[in-house]
Amino acid sequence: GPRIGVLTSGGDAQGMNAAVRAVVRGAIHLGARPFAIYEGYQGAVDGGPGIREMTWDDVGNIMHRGGTIIGTARCAAFREREGRRTAAKNLLERGIDRLVVIGGDGSLTGTDLFRREWPDLLRELHERGEISAETMAAHPTLMVAGIVGSIDNDLVGTDMTIGTDSALHRIIEALDAISSTAASHQRTFIVEVMGRHCGYLPLSAAIAGGADAVFVPEDPPRDGWEERLCDKLAAARAAGRRDSIVLVAEGALDRQGERIDVDRLHDVIERGLGEDARITILGHVQRGGTPSAYDRWMSTLLGIAAVQDVLAATADSPAHIIGVRRNRLARLPLVQSIENTRAVAGYIKEGEYDKAIEARGESFGK
Ligand code: F6P
Repeated sequence: GPRIGVLTSGGDAQGMNAAVRAVVRGAIHLGARPFAIYEGYQGAVDGGPGIREMTWDDVGNIMHRGGTIIGTARCAAFREREGRRTAAKNLLERGIDRLVVIGGDGSLTGTDLFRREWPDLLRELHERGEISAETMAAHPTLMVAGIVGSIDNDLVGTDMTIGTDSALHRIIEALDAISSTAASHQRTFIVEVMGRHCGYLPLSAAIAGGADAVFVPEDPPRDGWEERLCDKLAAARAAGRRDSIVLVAEGALDRQGERIDVDRLHDVIERGLGEDARITILGHVQRGGTPSAYDRWMSTLLGIAAVQDVLAATADSPAHIIGVRRNRLARLPLVQSIENTRAVAGYIKEGEYDKAIEARGESFGK
């Protein structure tokens, strides 16, 4: 049967194991042979034990575990053409010409490049006498499907990426814990949340956790925000609110493009209210630990759909991202989705916030 490689790449995310499990078992169920590629693309570049055929039982008992049991990496060698050529050779040695890649936009961009270069890489390998003409002819195209694994929920065009829901649960748990100590002391806490260029986690956490204020990259506050923030916190305290929480995305900016980080917020509150606020940076706690129920079942459905997609792919079908859109499984064009996603970071950098918000709204069911 056809042979499918599966790998996880870039930052890990809760639910990746459920996706790997679904790819492996889905492949076996549909008569294909699944291979795990370890440590992201590094396993493909290294070959040997970096690529291993998986059995049904190899992915037993992993669904509830955070992270990814097949490892992940941001692979430098794969960024070079030579690394991709070696990876192609190692995959071909095992007859693998279909890939399911679970990773962020960087990993999926690399995957698309690999797919486009594949025929040339094979030609080069053949010219060097590293693969036979028969091998080259038997695997003319690389068929790929992407699944976005990232707690950031930054892919434009899908509702949720793998890990986002679990990260949000983790953040809310932390906020609940923080508000009890904050309330006891009538204190203000400044809490930094992950998300790179994407404000989804802080914004959703602010709503679900009842925060007083939130700062996100896509919608910097208008000038004079320092005073407005302090007035708001003071009014809430005067009205009897004992716990004040200010959430800030790690990529938050002001209208001049300067970072609004925890220390700056601390200074603003100290100067405006004479209050010594406490700072909590949640960090990688958000990315670790048990995946939520949603991340388990969504990842399972995505994994199976991705296997179906690469098995149905033909030489000229475009690469897809398999995701959830408007609460339905959807196949999105990989290249376009990545371009749309990258564009948002560009809008933020250029100060084109209306466009950034518009693009995010496309994903968040505006
Ligand atoms: O993309 C996931 C993410 O956790 C971002 O939210 C964060 O900016 C980044 O990865 C942190 O990267 P690292 O794990 O390499 O420190």
